[in-house]
This record gives sequence, structure tokens and C-alpha cells, in this order.
Amino acid sequence: MNDDRKPVLEIQDLHKTYYHMGKDVSILRGVNFTVNSGDLVSIVGKSGVGKSTLLHVAGTLDKPTSGRVLYEGQDVFAMSEKELASFRNAQLGFVFQFHHLLPEFTALENVMLPALIGRIDFSLARERAESLLLEVGLKERLTHRPGELSGGEQQRVAIARSLVMEPRLIFADEPTGNLDERTSDGVHELLFRLNTERQLAFVIVTHSFALAKRMTRHVVMRDGQMFTQSEVSD
Ligand SMILES: Nc1ncnc2c1ncn2[C@@H]1O[C@H](COP(=O)(O)OP(=O)(O)OP(=O)(O)O)[C@@H](O)[C@H]1O
Ligand SMILES: [Mg+2]
Repeated sequence: MNDDRKPVLEIQDLHKTYYHMGKDVSILRGVNFTVNSGDLVSIVGKSGVGKSTLLHVAGTLDKPTSGRVLYEGQDVFAMSEKELASFRNAQLGFVFQFHHLLPEFTALENVMLPALIGRIDFSLARERAESLLLEVGLKERLTHRPGELSGGEQQRVAIARSLVMEPRLIFADEPTGNLDERTSDGVHELLFRLNTERQLAFVIVTHSFALAKRMTRHVVMRDGQMFTQSEVSD
């Protein structure tokens, strides 16, 4: 392992319980996990086990019931809402199971938006967004709105959007689940290249064996906890 790999994210004894119809539903039950810079982590687990919940809490989009989430040693839930929103926009990228693109905006505008929110200069934001859309094969779709794009194209716009702020860690929930094999392979190559070039870390929920086998760490979620596996199985 490289000596310069530092912990980016540390999750300590994380619990998440939803309260539903008068009952507690305990989903995360003491998750401990560390992600170092440049790590490629795959997460698998049965439907409903809590994978998306974990990504939301680890990604600071939802609060834990107890436990801590540290980024470079800093407890993010101790920040104010405003600080946390700006931290999230600048440092973290997300690719969701459902892409959450803004319907009124074009592909280009959707990708530029996090950069504009992060007060990046307009022309630089545009340059970065165009180059990312080109990388995900959407050069000819810059002015299309989400409703004018196919499902896979929308997913690729979401991937480009997650990268525009040049974050250090990306959380992805089945990012290539809707794509054909060839397009998925192209997106995977892009992710691996960014990983090598920028030490960008990925935490990816995926049932794609092709993707998982190229990741460096494999985790399975079971009974509200995470367990490391030495290998992925088909
Ligand atoms: N807001 C909520 N209130 C109550 N229960 C919830 C809420 N959100 C999620 N859950 C429950 O938490 C459990 C875990 O959900 P989660 O979406 O994390 O699963 P998952 O592992 O991502 O599943 P999948 O593979 O199907 O995407 C589910 O059983 C779900 O019903
Ligand atoms: Mg899920």
C-alpha cells in the first residue's frame, strides 16, 4: 500500500433507526469503516439491508441516530447546516440509484450547477462540465433536458455532475445499473482513470461483478453491519 494514503472518511459505531408507524426500525447497527484516499470500495448486500441508508448517512445527506462520521478527522455532524452543505458540495460526489437531475435545466446546466453553487467562475464551470460530458459520451446532448435523454444518458449526466467539483470521494449507488455493457465499461474506465489520476476514492454499491472485481476492497452488509470480504464472487 502507498504510504501517502490517508484516511479520508472514518465511520465510528454508526447507528440508524427509522421510526415508522409507532415502531423503531433499526437499519444500521454499529457500522465501523474507514475509507482511505484512492480506495475503491464495493458494497453488496440484500435488498433492504441498508446500503442506500449507509451512503446517505456517510455522505452527510441524512443524520445518524448515533455514532460519528469523520472526514479527515473532523466530525461533520458538529458543523452548522450551512457549513455542512458547502463541505458536501465541495468534497463529496454522489451518483444515486435515481439520478435526481433538475428537469428544467439542460444536461450542461445540470453538470455546471454544483460548480456555480461552489462559486467557481462561470467559464471554468462550463469548460469542466463540457469536458466531462464529452468523457461520458454525451458531446451531442449538451442542450437536452433530462426528459429528452434516455435513462442511461441521464445516468451519465449524473456521473458527470458528481465529478464537476473534483471531489475527493464519490458515493455511488448502482451507478451503471441501467446501462448496457459497453456503456457501463466506458463509465467504469472513466472512474478508474480518475481514481489513478487524482487518488479519487469511490464507495460503490454495485451488483456488477465486472465492476466489483476491479475494486480494491469488498464489503458485504448484513444484519446492519459491514463485513470485509477478501474476494468478490460472481
Ligand atoms: N424513511 C424511512 N422510514 C422508514 N423506513 C425506511 C425509511 N427509509 C428506508 N427505510 C427502510 O430501511 C431499509 C433499508 O433501506 P435501504 O434503501 O437503505 O436499502 P438498500 O440496501 O439500499 O436496498 P436496495 O438494494 O433495494 O436498494 C428498508 O427496509 C426500508 O424500508
Ligand atoms: Mg438502495
